[in-house]
Amino acid sequence: MKFFVDTADIDAIRELHDLGMVDGVTTNPSLIAKSGRDILEVTKEICELVDGPVSAEVVATETDAMLAEGRHLAKIAPNICVKLPLTWDGLRACKVLTDEGTKVNVTLCFSPNQALLAAKAGATYISPFIGRLDDIVLDGMDVIRDIREIYDNYGFETQILAASIRSANHMKEAALIGADVATAPPDVIRKMAAHPLTDAGLKAFLADAEKAGIKIV
Ligand code: G3P
Repeated sequence: MKFFVDTADIDAIRELHDLGMVDGVTTNPSLIAKSGRDILEVTKEICELVDGPVSAEVVATETDAMLAEGRHLAKIAPNICVKLPLTWDGLRACKVLTDEGTKVNVTLCFSPNQALLAAKAGATYISPFIGRLDDIVLDGMDVIRDIREIYDNYGFETQILAASIRSANHMKEAALIGADVATAPPDVIRKMAAHPLTDAGLKAFLADAEKAGIKIV
């Protein structure tokens, strides 16, 4: 499973990138607003730092305006992936942009039917939002599982990008189901390293090392 980092925080991206844990980056208007920076400027900086795809989202809602914004974003760098909402206008813009050779991430997907339409429209990535489905007491992972099965039934090349990931458990579940990519906030990726038995085991080893006076350098 590829790891994308879901943030516009350059320092956080750099730290994970240096560890080899960033296969791409996803942003959205809320994350850009949180960064407090200009979308074009911060997106360009992210594209220079990361080799993989960097999703940048349009804010227009009608196809022609989405196309204008998408083409403008695509000029930032060759690794830009234009993010479009899963609306009818978004699907129309997806078809045009992918036919032009631009990578497209169709976002705000909440159902297998929506994902099927995005694949038909040629989306490079489909982003089902796990956490927001869980928030309304549905099971976000069921949607990922259904999309995996549908895409595999017909050999669709659209990649499943599990999004709205809120926990390390979401990462594990997405990987077990076979999501192609998971995009997670930096903190969630860090939390994947944590285990109470690791902490307890290390404490015991260090206590024994101190008692025995073990020194290595
Ligand atoms: O990748 C989509 C993500 O940014 C949305 O996450 O936690 O706001 O539902 P969240």
